Amino acid sequence: MHVVTLDSDTDFDGWRKAARALAMNDVRPADVSWRVKGAAPDLFDDQADTQLPEVPKGAFSVPASFMELAESAILHSDPNRFTLLYRLLWRLRTNHDLMDIATDPDVAQANALARAVRRDVHKMHAFVRFREVGRERESRYVAWFEPEHHIVERAAPFFARRFADMPWSILTPELSAHWDGSRVSFTPGVSKAEAPTEDRLEEVWLRYYASIFNPARLKVKAMEKEMPKKYWQNLPEAKLIQPLIAAASRRTTEMIADEGTEPHKPQKRVEETAMTRQPKAHAHAAVESSRDVEPADLQTLREEAASCRACPLWKDATQTVFGEGPAHAPLMLVGEQPGDKEDLAGHPFVGPAGQMLDRALEEAGIDRSKVYVTNAVKHFKFVPRGKIRLHQKPATPEIKACRQWYERELAAIRPALVVAMGATAAQAVFGKITQVTKNRGHIVDLPEGAQAMITVHPSYLLRLPDAEAKAREYELFVKDLKIAAAALKRAHAA
Ligand code: URA
Repeated sequence: MHVVTLDSDTDFDGWRKAARALAMNDVRPADVSWRVKGAAPDLFDDQADTQLPEVPKGAFSVPASFMELAESAILHSDPNRFTLLYRLLWRLRTNHDLMDIATDPDVAQANALARAVRRDVHKMHAFVRFREVGRERESRYVAWFEPEHHIVERAAPFFARRFADMPWSILTPELSAHWDGSRVSFTPGVSKAEAPTEDRLEEVWLRYYASIFNPARLKVKAMEKEMPKKYWQNLPEAKLIQPLIAAASRRTTEMIADEGTEPHKPQKRVEETAMTRQPKAHAHAAVESSRDVEPADLQTLREEAASCRACPLWKDATQTVFGEGPAHAPLMLVGEQPGDKEDLAGHPFVGPAGQMLDRALEEAGIDRSKVYVTNAVKHFKFVPRGKIRLHQKPATPEIKACRQWYERELAAIRPALVVAMGATAAQAVFGKITQVTKNRGHIVDLPEGAQAMITVHPSYLLRLPDAEAKAREYELFVKDLKIAAAALKRAHAA
């Protein structure tokens, strides 16, 4: 029996190195016992680690999809994950296409683990709520969160980007993450018995704070993962601890938890179609354009899109904001991308542009609850400015990368009419840059079968500075929507 002890629950490099050496020596999965330093004793607890066999000469390449999957699945709390992943790796030596067999029990299980991990990361991104603790120069933003899996290191960089301007700490039972304005650090968690309630957060933090900024307690391995090696020459005291202490007492000038960061409501389930689930042929791939997109039900699409990495916008956004509405809506409205409110709420057009849209739809005699509303780009693109997130227009590569989701929504819903609101939506719907002012209000045929029309984006109306122009443009917007309503009636009668 080979016994391998990993440095931590998230020691992917340790697992990879050992797994490679073992697999290349044809050590059977049943002959390897994986354990984690400091974990509860197991059967082989009194047995020392066995020496890893020499890695024989020759290449052993595995598909990138496996490595990507393994990096997520290894963060799952299932104690058997190391064995499962090793079994997959071992089998890949003789079946290079194994990862394509979604029905294989090992592949399916690893996929399920990775999905659960991604969901957990997403939940942490969406549900962590900071509270200011300490006064004046001592203040810091602190949150308590209980992830299901070992995801703190994976989830922390998001908060560093999102809340770059203020020192924060996220306490969890296993590992706590801290941001001092320039780097993320990790210290041991807060025991569950100490779990702070809203009222006790400050008290628990102060006690914890007193104990953590002690070099011996820093989680060096975890920090290494988040920080380029070059910062680590003089580890740990001089370079790391001082800034941490300094940051903890730095005056915070901005609040994190403004009204816009209210906990978001759970995603509404859209009505499911009667269609059966389809293989995830397009998942995560950047597809520029395809005429033959097979329909998948909306819930499947929504779940796949939740972990879309086809462009980098997912990194800073809170979540994918997928389309919503009846599964066979006759009208599909396409906007540009979710805004700040939509990003937090997880629903399209719920902010100021959404209110403008609702008003105009009502005036045009269109019932929004019967419309499928979506966006060309499904992640919020912004630049942080203090506590505000400034909307940025999506670029063509982002629109192209996201177009697969629009195409698949279109194929699933098969609306009679698609209305593209604004230039970004028009680019997605027509697959090329298409001028709004020149083409608005005309019903045209799409190669996919539906008809389409272009109009302005409701945010354009919100941005107009002069009230007269605003009123005039609003009337034109309603007029376009009435053209859409008439086209729908004709389509219905035909
Ligand atoms: N603007 C959009 O294009 N979509 C939204 O969902 C909100 C604002």
